[in-house]
Amino acid sequence: QTDYAELVRRTIRSVPDWPKPGVVFRDITPVLQDPRTFRALIDLFVYRYMRQRLDLVAGIDARGFIIGSVLAYELNLGFVPVRKQGKLPYRTVAEPYSLEYGNSAVEIHTDAVRTGQRVLLVDDLIATGGTMMAAVKLLQRLGANVVEAATIIDLPDLGGSANIATTGTPLYSICRYD
Ligand code: PRP
Ligand code: HPA
Repeated sequence: QTDYAELVRRTIRSVPDWPKPGVVFRDITPVLQDPRTFRALIDLFVYRYMRQRLDLVAGIDARGFIIGSVLAYELNLGFVPVRKQGKLPYRTVAEPYSLEYGNSAVEIHTDAVRTGQRVLLVDDLIATGGTMMAAVKLLQRLGANVVEAATIIDLPDLGGSANIATTGTPLYSICRYD
């Protein structure tokens, strides 16, 4: 477990000054590109969730789709996308969240989950936590029981994991960068 997490952590690429000066972007593409590391990443999630009673995996646009769909497949569960506003074709509900500059919103189809379903929510990274919190709220508005929010990377200095802790939804992360 620790070895797998360490392999993932050291394979994530840190790109200085992207998308703007002063930001160090944590890039998961090298993890996805290498089959052994990609499998280690997915297996960490599979081992954690295989004995839990879950009904669905929800993944957040766009990188949460990559890991969320593979994880759902491995756990024999369905997958539902939480998308950026304006992408889903059927009836939707939306939840706004604030970005560093301005606002955005995530959306989900109204029939994506049923009341009482046990949902695992997945994304690649928690920064301010705004995106993950909005996705938790959306799922809860549809009556879902969000069993856990799972992410590859937590950036605790940005306060997101602390914010999520106040909501009562447990958060699991594979690695942290301070
Ligand atoms: C990134 C990341 C998370 C979110 C984290 O996605 O994949 O979804 O930001 O930030 P937060 O905790 O401050 O909300 P982004 O909005 O860049 O979208 P993308 O996956 O489409 O690139
Ligand atoms: N990596 C990926 N997504 C992000 C980051 C990052 O460092 N910061 C905010 N969203």
